[in-house]
This record gives sequence, C-alpha cells and structure tokens, in this order.
Amino acid sequence: MEKYPTKNQKVIDWVMSVAKVTEPDEIYWCDGTEKENKKICSLLVEKGTFIPLNPQKRPNSFLARSNPKDVARVESRTFICSEKEIDAGPTNNWAAPKKMKKTLSKLMKGCMRGRTMYVIPFSMGPLGSNIAQIGVEITDSPYVVANMRIMTRMGKKVWTVLKDKDFVRCFHSVGAPLKKGEQDVAWPCNPEKTYIAHFPETKEIISFGSGYGGNALLGKKCLALRIATTMAREDGWLAEHMLIVGLKNKKLGLTSYVAAAFPSACGKTNMAMLIPPKAMADWEVSTIGDDIAWIKPDSSGQLRAINPEAGFFGVAPGTSTKTNKNAVESCRANTIFTNVALTDDGDIWWEGLTEKAPKHLIDWQGNDWTPDCGRPAAHPNSRFTAPASQCPSIDEEWENPAGVPIDAFIFGGRLASNTPLVYQSYNWQHGVFLASTMGSEKTAAAEGKTGEIRRDPMAMLPFCGYNMGDYWSHWLSMGAKIDKKPLIFRVNWFRKDKEGHFIWPGFGENMRVLEWIVKRVNGQANATESVFGYSPRYEDLRWKGLNMTEERFNELMSVDVDMALLDVKAQSDYFKPLRKQKRLPQDFEAELLLLQKRLERRK
Ligand code: GTP
Ligand code: SPV
Ligand code: MN
Repeated sequence: MEKYPTKNQKVIDWVMSVAKVTEPDEIYWCDGTEKENKKICSLLVEKGTFIPLNPQKRPNSFLARSNPKDVARVESRTFICSEKEIDAGPTNNWAAPKKMKKTLSKLMKGCMRGRTMYVIPFSMGPLGSNIAQIGVEITDSPYVVANMRIMTRMGKKVWTVLKDKDFVRCFHSVGAPLKKGEQDVAWPCNPEKTYIAHFPETKEIISFGSGYGGNALLGKKCLALRIATTMAREDGWLAEHMLIVGLKNKKLGLTSYVAAAFPSACGKTNMAMLIPPKAMADWEVSTIGDDIAWIKPDSSGQLRAINPEAGFFGVAPGTSTKTNKNAVESCRANTIFTNVALTDDGDIWWEGLTEKAPKHLIDWQGNDWTPDCGRPAAHPNSRFTAPASQCPSIDEEWENPAGVPIDAFIFGGRLASNTPLVYQSYNWQHGVFLASTMGSEKTAAAEGKTGEIRRDPMAMLPFCGYNMGDYWSHWLSMGAKIDKKPLIFRVNWFRKDKEGHFIWPGFGENMRVLEWIVKRVNGQANATESVFGYSPRYEDLRWKGLNMTEERFNELMSVDVDMALLDVKAQSDYFKPLRKQKRLPQDFEAELLLLQKRLERRK
C-alpha cells in the first residue's frame, strides 16, 4: 500500500514539514467516507465534545458545547499579512508576513503534542468546476473534520482533481497540546493566543487558538472570502459574502437568479430559503447558497455564480417553522449543533424555535435552565451545520459547475432609520458606491455593543483580504468588463417606527420587494426617480394579502433630507483614510458630490 493517498509532492512536503514542527502523535489523511465520519463522530462522543441527540427525533445528529471564551469569529485577532501595510488597507489588521510567521512558528512548536493531525483535502465549489478552488486543511480538531465534511466537498476524490497542481495551504490548531497522560477537555482552545492569519501573496492561512466557526472551518471565511478576494482581483472575478437565490414565476413568465449581501446575522439564510406568503404563491424560490458566492463572467460576458460551500453554518436563534421552515427542515438529521440548548428528551432548542420555551433545558453551557432563570438557553451565535442537499428548497442547479446567471445584486444593512425599504441604483458605478456605504448594527463577531452602527461595505468589512479601496476599484472595473451588467439594489428590512417596532414585516413578505426587483430586471415594473435612486411607489408593489397602508409604506420609503446630508458628511469622513492613501476611487468622490447636490436641491 502507498504511504500517502496523493502523489502531489507539494502536499506531502507541506504536511511533513508541519508535522515536524507541531509534533502530533499521529497523522491521519481524511478520505471523506461514511465509515470515516462514523469513526470521527464516535471519537468526538467518547471525548465528550459531541453529545449524541435522540435518534428518533434527530437522527445522526450531535450537540457540541464550546468553551464560553470561544463562541464567534474574533475580528480583533484576524490579520492580513501582505508585504506592504497599505495593501491590507485601513479596514484590516495588518502584520508583516515574516514577523507573523515568526510569532506563529513559536506557537506552533509542539502545539499538536498528544493529538492527531488530520489532513483534509477539500474543494470549494463543485469538484472540477472552473470556478472552484482546492484547499488542504491541516487541523488537530476532529470537530473541524466533522464540520468540514458537511461544509465542503471533502475527501480522497479531491486528490484526483488536484493532481500535481498547487492548493491553498490551510493550517489550523486549537493551540492546546497535551502533556503525557493529561486528560483532554471537551472543547480545547487557546483564547489568549488566538491568531487567524492570512497571507494573500502566498495564498496561505494559519489559524491558531480557536475551534469555532469561521476561525476554524478554514474553507469558509478564510479561503472562500479573504484569500479568494485576492484571487478574484488577480483573475477578474468576484468572491462575495452573498446568498444566491432563484426566483421563478410561471404566471408572469419571469425567472431570475439574484445574489444578495447582508452583514453577518442579518438575514442571508432567511432570504436564501424564503417561502413566499400565500397571496404570492405564484412565486417559486429556490436556494443556491446562503453565505458565499463566487461570481465569474462567462465567455458571453454574463456573470455566473456558484456557492462554494456544501452546507449551511446557520445562526440558530430566531430560526423557526414560521421564520425559516426550510432551514428547520435542513437540520432534521445529519446535523451538528453548536452552543444550542438540550431538551430533556435529547433534542435541541433555541430562543425562537417554538413560541413557548420548554419547562426545563440544559443550556449551552451545560447548566440547568428554566424559562424564568434570566439567561438565554442558546448562545446568540449558536449555529447548526447542515448539508445543503437536505434543504427542501435547494435549486436543481446548485451543483452546476458552470454556476447560474446573475441578474441582480442586492445589498442590505440593518438600519433603524432613514434608509428606505428598497431602491435601485442609477447605474453600475452608483450601485457600487451605494454598496460601499452600507451600514449595519453590530453583531456577535464584531465584538461591540449590539445596536451601535458600523459601516460594512458590501457586507465584506471583516472578509476583504486586501485594501478596501482597491476592492471597490475592482468592482468598478468588473462593470466595465461585463456586457450584461446585473442591476444593483439597496434594501433595508430593519427600519423601525417611533415606538421601536419594525415597520416592515420581513421574512416571507420580502417576496414583495423581490418581485419588484425581478420585474425591474425584466423591464416590467415602474419606478420613480428619487434622491437615492429609482424607487417603487405604493402602486408599484403587490399588496394583496398584507395590511400595508400607503401612509405606512411612505414612512418606510421616506428620507429626512437633513439626516441624509449629515450622512453624506459621515460617508465622506469614512472615506478619509482611503482618500489619504490615494486608494479611494475617484468615481466615489463624484457620486458623493452628486448625492449631496440632489439632497440640497430638495431642501
Ligand atoms: P451569517 O451566517 O452570520 O453570515 O448570517 P446570515 O445573514 O445568514 O444570518 P441569518 O439569516 O441567520 O440572520 C438571522 C437574523 O436575521 C435573525 O435575528 C432573524 O430574526 C433576522 N432576520 C432575517 N430576516 C429578517 C427579516 O426579513 N426581517 C427582520 N426584521 N429580521 C430578519
Ligand atoms: C459570519 O459571521 O458571517 C458567518 C459565521 O457566516 S462564521 O462562519 O463563523 O464566520
Ligand atoms: Mn457569513
């Protein structure tokens, strides 16, 4: 028998050199088979990392509880290590590659002692697709192996596609070596020494200290966004924090795929699996992806998108049969739940899953929980890892290696005031500008007070692997390259009234806005020219089945000119660091000025 499952010498050399430094007890090459997965899951149960759930209620599913200090992406410990600081730009933490490698090598020395080193070959995107990329993740966390098996196309078939080509080197360690005879903990990690480091020039990732989500499942944010954005810039495509959804209406003869960017925990999974309200049952919505889109122009100048992932790593709280039935269905079996609560009959629960909480639970930290105890049962960033193939609304084309044609881009923040429900940009460059200034209230991974607003251009603030100004220029130049430019829209589901209630019902009802968007794409819907762009009037949306008065709709669409002018100033201030670095596209200065003029004329 051959010693290694691949003949790729670059892989073998890298794996062996890493093993020499990290000193694992053994090296295990993952093959991705069912048998292997069973073994890994049993091992995780044995170690106490996985709690098997009741097989009658949740077949082949497990609950994991993380260390309470390791519950989300840590943006403050995420680094872009480009040779020049200016190439990381003002929105990223920068470190010099040599210096970072030196720091990391010290930490890596012997860091896998007492552990098994797993080698995971994986493809982001359908195997062999010309939009896909191959990575190899080395990790000492079997939890990561089990998750990567759901989230990516993982296993020995990847070696066949990789052949002797190059790949993205993804190193991960929980940073918790074991002394001889030392008992392991259920969730080993090293929160004090966490680093998530990216080397865009050499396409490498080194992640140390955290075992959670995007910090550890390196195919996701690290490869598919931070490294992929740099690849996409070099090769003329786009790597985006976007869901992809199919919208079809046989009655109206419309069918479109749209890609939509929302910041973390702002509704991508919901929109990706949207169920239209009864009165709009003529629409069929199908899911391609819920978090990341890789988008490339084809030979005819049409942008085509794939979902590089194979599973959903979805936010659990708030997910219910009412808000997202398809997501609930997707995790009916073969799912890993992390940091949710455990019911007395061996199933899972989280805030919002059912209207009434069970009388007794074990919370995400393993403590007894009752509805009156004053603590949340599930962590706000608790997640489910579920295979995309289990989603009832999964699109027939979701594994098409050529991707699906994109007709529109939608950008949405989470803003309580002065941002209308929906509007269309005047043109591509105006749309790119609108996307660059979008904002959102802070979420778990942003480590801030929730409620505080931060700008999150294209929902990519923590995910762009290079200078944000260059990224915007790349978007602008893509527009010049493609013949069939998708239309660009801004939406905001989160506007609140004076009493602090959401004005827009959201969720399935978002279909009303999407219908207008698809009709706009097909030249079938009217709009009026407003200060921000083309906006629908009350009569341009379908209202049957929803109680929405014209007055309430106008409140949703209204713009306070003085507030908007203050925001122009804030946008200009936000651009300052990039302006200083001479990386701000000139187009944006022009767009800012035009916006200001349009607003001043309204006064
Ligand atoms: P990441 O996986 O973190 O990138 O985020 P995501 O964008 O996929 O997050 P997800 O869809 O899970 O967002 C969850 C949050 O958005 C929950 O708090 C939902 O209640 C809320 N949400 C989703 N859609 C809507 C909507 O249409 N209106 C309102 N008001 N809230 C929504
Ligand atoms: C996000 O934070 O945008 C996520 C979760 O999708 S994680 O994979 O942890 O980055
Ligand atoms: Mn995300």
